[in-house]
Amino acid sequence: MTKLDIIQRTAEFVQEKLKNAEAGHDWWHIQRVWKNTKLILETEEADALVCELTALLHDIADSKFHDGDEHIGPRIAGEFLLDNGLDSDRIAHVQQIIYNMSYKASLGQVDFHSKELEIVQDADRLDAIGAIGIARAFHYGGFKNREIYNPDIPPQQQLSKEVYKNATTPTMNHFYEKLLLLRDKMNTNKAKQIAEHRHRFMESFLQQFYGEWNGEM
Ligand code: ADP
Ligand code: NI
Repeated sequence: MTKLDIIQRTAEFVQEKLKNAEAGHDWWHIQRVWKNTKLILETEEADALVCELTALLHDIADSKFHDGDEHIGPRIAGEFLLDNGLDSDRIAHVQQIIYNMSYKASLGQVDFHSKELEIVQDADRLDAIGAIGIARAFHYGGFKNREIYNPDIPPQQQLSKEVYKNATTPTMNHFYEKLLLLRDKMNTNKAKQIAEHRHRFMESFLQQFYGEWNGEM
């Protein structure tokens, strides 16, 4: 099978698998991350096949929706790639990246690094900021039936981790807890450039939001 064939097959597999996925993690998210990955690859030296396959497979089974099992995603990805004849080094690499991009890894317990991981991580993070990031955040908040904003509930920094885990925080808090921090976490120059633009858009959204909240403008 050629590289193009395996990428095409993987795209079809993921599209089918995510048919009923929650809209923040559906096929369209995957397609955007895949596009971002290809854009970043234009200016980076890396194994493009590993990057593209990982972009396609990175949310195949989010642990959030599988009782916190961080191994199920890498396992499904690995089985699929083995069935489709990918070499074992690349399979292991794809699995490592998916595992290390997971929730646990986002808490800082990362023990694997590669250029390919940096690229796909950037591509995924870019989809969490800007106009699409805003749409995804409010979609996710709606899915969880969260408040849009509550001036009496401060962002996470001011609450203990344990309390926060059980609190229902409004979606606006997510900007301060994650979205506004992502610009400075980008690995590649291309993603840094794009993130700068999207970050500014979120800042202007927030300004407008508070203005309207206060009955101005
Ligand atoms: P991904 O799997 O794409 O890396 P996540 O699973 O962390 O991202 O989140 C998916 C989407 O839902 C992102 O756009 C993220 O910002 C949003 N999201 C996650 N947690 C929250 C939250 N507590 N409030 C609002 N949006 C959230
Ligand atoms: Ni993702």
